[in-house]
Amino acid sequence: MSVKDNIDRNKLPRHIAIIMDGNGRWAKGLGKLRVFGHKNGVTAVREVLEATIELGIPYLTLYAFSSENWNRPKLEVQALMELLINSLNKELKTFHKNGVKLNAIGNINDLPTNAQKTLKETIAATSNNDKCTLSLALSYGSRAEIVEASKRIAQQVLSGELDPKDINEHVFTQNLYTANIPDPDLMIRTSGEYRISNFLLWQLAYTELSFSPKMWPEFNREDLFEAIYDFQTRERRFGKTSEQL
Ligand code: FPP
Repeated sequence: MSVKDNIDRNKLPRHIAIIMDGNGRWAKGLGKLRVFGHKNGVTAVREVLEATIELGIPYLTLYAFSSENWNRPKLEVQALMELLINSLNKELKTFHKNGVKLNAIGNINDLPTNAQKTLKETIAATSNNDKCTLSLALSYGSRAEIVEASKRIAQQVLSGELDPKDINEHVFTQNLYTANIPDPDLMIRTSGEYRISNFLLWQLAYTELSFSPKMWPEFNREDLFEAIYDFQTRERRFGKTSEQL
């Protein structure tokens, strides 16, 4: 019996965002190199993506590489970029089979040219798929995203396209990397850390948060189902009272 059987299909989150944390610690615990953890992290990505599709959840966002991760040892950064390229090449067929549309959020121009190329090609090749939008946050930092959005809005005001009195939350949202993607309903972080770490600060305003003690390579479909099941027990009031809902 799987927790999946207890999930209410009428109350599914539309968008799940995940901070995949703990690859390094998991590998270290086994006496292996950090890169071994990242490789096994890819297996967890595949499993979670498959489970998301099985349930028919249309948006999944994964924090794959933060703007701060550039400060890691050069070899680890290189290995992560190679893993990204190889995984995208390997998964393209499965993306098509499962209707996965790839998207990237973050400062993509920072990535090495070969990673940018594979990413852009995979995004273009999957652009007509419509079952699940998989957004990879790469060289992503939420504060930088907010600053970028502010600059874009300032440019629109300067050029006369936008009147400052028309700037509102909707306009701001549309100028973020995540324009046209609904805010996450559920955000999961693995590895027992209780932090947001500069991830989707604007978008998580009303998101339900779920923290798993498991390291990312250990996180599996049942863990995802449990997080969704728990999400369904929560009352989302969006500032209202219980009685008003
Ligand atoms: C966090 O673990 C994980 C990352 C910084 C990278 C996540 C990348 C993957 C799962 C593989 C590549 C992804 C795709 C989508 C192909 P950590 O290294 O911070 O672990 P630690 O906190 O234990 O050191």
